[in-house]
Amino acid sequence: MHFLGAAVSAVLAVRGVVALAVANTTATNSAIADDTTANTSSDGLVASSTASYGIKPKVVIISHFGLEASVWYGIKDFDVLARNITVPGFSPRYPQAHCTLNGEICQVTTGEAEINAASTISALALSPLFDLTTSYFLVAGIAGINPQRGSTGSVGFARFAVQVAQQYEFDIRDLGDNFTTGYIPYGTQVPAPAQYPTNVYGTEVFEVNASLQKLAIALASKAKLSDDPAAAAYRQKYQFAAAKKAPSVLACDVSTSDNYFHGKILGDAAANFTTLMTDGKGVYCTTAQEDNATLGALLRAAKAKKVDFKRAIVMRTGAAFDRPPPGESAFQHLFYTDVDGFGPSVDNIYLAGIQVVKGILRDWAPTYKAGVQPTNYVGDIFGSLGGVPDFGPYPNFGEA
Ligand SMILES: *[C@@H]1O[C@H](CO)[C@@H](O)[C@H](O)[C@H]1NC(C)=O
Ligand SMILES: *[C@@H]1O[C@H](CO)[C@@H](O)[C@H](O)[C@H]1NC(C)=O
Ligand SMILES: *[C@@H]1O[C@H](CO)[C@@H](O)[C@H](O)[C@H]1NC(C)=O
Ligand SMILES: *[C@@H]1O[C@H](CO)[C@@H](O)[C@H](O)[C@H]1NC(C)=O
Ligand SMILES: *[C@@H]1O[C@H](CO)[C@@H](O)[C@H](O)[C@H]1NC(C)=O
Ligand SMILES: *[C@@H]1O[C@H](CO)[C@@H](O)[C@H](O)[C@H]1NC(C)=O
Ligand SMILES: *[C@@H]1O[C@H](CO)[C@@H](O)[C@H](O)[C@H]1NC(C)=O
Repeated sequence: MHFLGAAVSAVLAVRGVVALAVANTTATNSAIADDTTANTSSDGLVASSTASYGIKPKVVIISHFGLEASVWYGIKDFDVLARNITVPGFSPRYPQAHCTLNGEICQVTTGEAEINAASTISALALSPLFDLTTSYFLVAGIAGINPQRGSTGSVGFARFAVQVAQQYEFDIRDLGDNFTTGYIPYGTQVPAPAQYPTNVYGTEVFEVNASLQKLAIALASKAKLSDDPAAAAYRQKYQFAAAKKAPSVLACDVSTSDNYFHGKILGDAAANFTTLMTDGKGVYCTTAQEDNATLGALLRAAKAKKVDFKRAIVMRTGAAFDRPPPGESAFQHLFYTDVDGFGPSVDNIYLAGIQVVKGILRDWAPTYKAGVQPTNYVGDIFGSLGGVPDFGPYPNFGEA
């Protein structure tokens, strides 16, 4: 998440408590795909050090907080609350993975922002309770959205995930008025997009499977998306054509920042950094707090052959614009405007996401089991998974 006001967060806190459920990890159901009987006790801890792959999901849905998760519960399509599996290393607030009885579909909730996302996904990927080697990962969350690129309620599928706050930061008032922003890429002295950072941590840019992104967009485009009249009216205040449109499915890159930034100047700074880091291939479109962390954990797991990084899909729905419309202040917009499209964005996680999940299950044998060959570079800025990144100064990196 990256857009909510305090009132909504309070509601979410309540939901988070509700989501704390009793573990039931007695994996005795014979319907489980290639069940090897997970050696788990009633508290979900592995009873033996031997890896015991009880569950081999085809799709893992990744939510970040209770409300995003709730759209997958009590639905007609499948029941991910049939098996609750406590996973060591998950968030105290969301300690369980939730799976269908046959283990084909699982849903996890990471907790919000980068540390929670990286920790939970690492715990999942390294857990002996699951075989994730052929699983598709569907990041399915709400986000802020850049009005130059899309409208609230829209569903964006990313190719690039960029960690936009991985920079030096000054309060702009401490800089001369020749600076456009207080964010300055590491190892440089000028704001993006002037100069590529000379120091990188490895998590600044992730590029996912663009062939899969296209398939997911095609699947999600079958959805009839939700909208509401207040959000539709509010959108018309923006000067950009993309902002005024009814919700649609878009190719739309995502930014990650623990810092919940807001307003035109920081939005433009994030856009400039995205341009810089991806050599102009990525376009700043949605804002969230987790995706680079989730992808970072998946990438490490992929290096250990626990997951297939090429099966990651990043879907974000626009819950609120990242900046105010003309005539409204950034402060007013973030704290007092509540007609931005929050409701439709939550609905559309399910409406678009379910098409992706069903599409993967339906065409599992002919298409998804073996995997979709990407034609683009896939991986991080270091080329950790092989190949040469199509962005950045590979292989010449410094360390801070
Ligand atoms: C756990 O699942 C088993 C097998 O389905 C069932 O017999 C048992 O009652 C469940 N326990 C709880 C606490 O839900
Ligand atoms: C589960 O534990 C039992 C008893 O300790 C052991 O015989 C069995 O091989 C284990 N199963 C797996 C899949 O690790
Ligand atoms: C799994 O947990 C949810 C609450 O999070 C609960 O409603 C459901 O009954 C649990 N399922 C089982 C099989 O215990
Ligand atoms: C702003 O001006 C200062 C003082 O002349 C200079 O050191 C700095 O490099 C300038 N920064 C930018 C981004 O132009
Ligand atoms: C996002 O994660 C990827 C993969 O670890 C990394 O290469 C990239 O630098 C991260 N982006 C940011 C801005 O940290
Ligand atoms: C973004 O980059 C453009 C082009 O270099 C520049 O004009 C603009 O001031 C930058 N915006 C910010 C907030 O740094
Ligand atoms: C990239 O995604 C496409 C579409 O799902 C898939 O066919 C391909 O196998 C994926 N690439 C790899 C290397 O898995």
